[in-house]
Amino acid sequence: MSLRKKIIVRAPGRINLIGEHTDYNGGLALPMAIDRYIEVTVRPRTDELLVLWSPEFGGINLPLQDLRPAPGTWHTYVQGVCHALLEAGHRLGGFELDAGGNIPVGTGMSSSAALCCATVMALNALFELKLNRHEMALLAQRAEHTFAGVQCGLLDQYACLFAKKGYALKMDFSTLQFDYIRVELPKHSLLLLDSAVKHSLAATEYNLRKQECRRALELVQVRYPRVTAMRNLSVSHLQECVLHEDAVAYKRARFFLEENSRVEQAVAALKARDMAAFGRLLNESHRGLADLYQVSCPEIEKLWRMAAVRDNFLGARLMGGGFGGCTLNLTKMPASGGLASLGKEYAEFSGKDLKHYLLKSADGAQVTGHNAAHQLVVADGPLSGAPAALNPQTT
Ligand code: GLA
Repeated sequence: MSLRKKIIVRAPGRINLIGEHTDYNGGLALPMAIDRYIEVTVRPRTDELLVLWSPEFGGINLPLQDLRPAPGTWHTYVQGVCHALLEAGHRLGGFELDAGGNIPVGTGMSSSAALCCATVMALNALFELKLNRHEMALLAQRAEHTFAGVQCGLLDQYACLFAKKGYALKMDFSTLQFDYIRVELPKHSLLLLDSAVKHSLAATEYNLRKQECRRALELVQVRYPRVTAMRNLSVSHLQECVLHEDAVAYKRARFFLEENSRVEQAVAALKARDMAAFGRLLNESHRGLADLYQVSCPEIEKLWRMAAVRDNFLGARLMGGGFGGCTLNLTKMPASGGLASLGKEYAEFSGKDLKHYLLKSADGAQVTGHNAAHQLVVADGPLSGAPAALNPQTT
């Protein structure tokens, strides 16, 4: 291997149109990669040292034999990917890795998955591991499980690795099959409003939701042992076996069933270009996430309420893991109309500046083969001012 070998990979963040908190239960979702990315550059070394550097968050040198989780740091994801590769029997050597990008911190646009996917794709090319994209997605997910402590599903990794510009992926996580759904919005925009509340999925609630859903399934299985997956549950199962035993588990599982059905309806609305129906589904998804799944917070509720009373907003919902981050809004053009008044009202409520992002769809991760300067993130428009970019802690 030539010492001058250098691989550059660019991996996008994602939004999720609908189908939230469904992936880890084998449900449906509709993610789309966005024109925000993490870029990593890797070069081989002759020794067994990893030299990891981010202009944003600094660096660390460590031997390949000395990988250990460092939650809260950006490099825990890179270490986690190396660990997952070694665990799967792949041979690695030392390397240098530089990471940068323009996915804003803690907004729910999946910068950590983008970093993991970029890293695994770069190492695949550097060490000629012959991994396919599905294997890369599983390794990137494993890194988050073991080195960030988040028992995430595969939503972010699949969006990052399989996305196609102009399309969302209609994902079925019970089979990992997907269809590309054309997303054409000539008269509408997808606008993210950033609550500036940093969510922390690792801080127990995310993993707790997974357990609560598992509990609902187990309660049904006491009477119906042949129901082996959340996807096979029905509302009558839940009413008969869960409602009176565990009201919390009932609400979580009920949300799961309703959200899956909304994904199907949203795909039909997109195909029919019925944006009013699509907007209504976003609102229903949000109410489910806030009231049944209970992953909202006061600032996100404020953003949702503000959108609900504005004529040019067709629908809105919290996006990603929840407890902060962004709301996804479907707006009529021009999207920026009324943002100043939203910003003022939000600042009065929360004391925080309201940033917003207007996003376009993008292709999945790829080896770009050329070095692009690390770019600082700039939120779009007058409410901007987001800090630069690599998200060390959150997805
Ligand atoms: C995070 C996780 C995903 C998914 C979403 C919620 O982004 O990484 O796997 O569960 O939350 O839909």
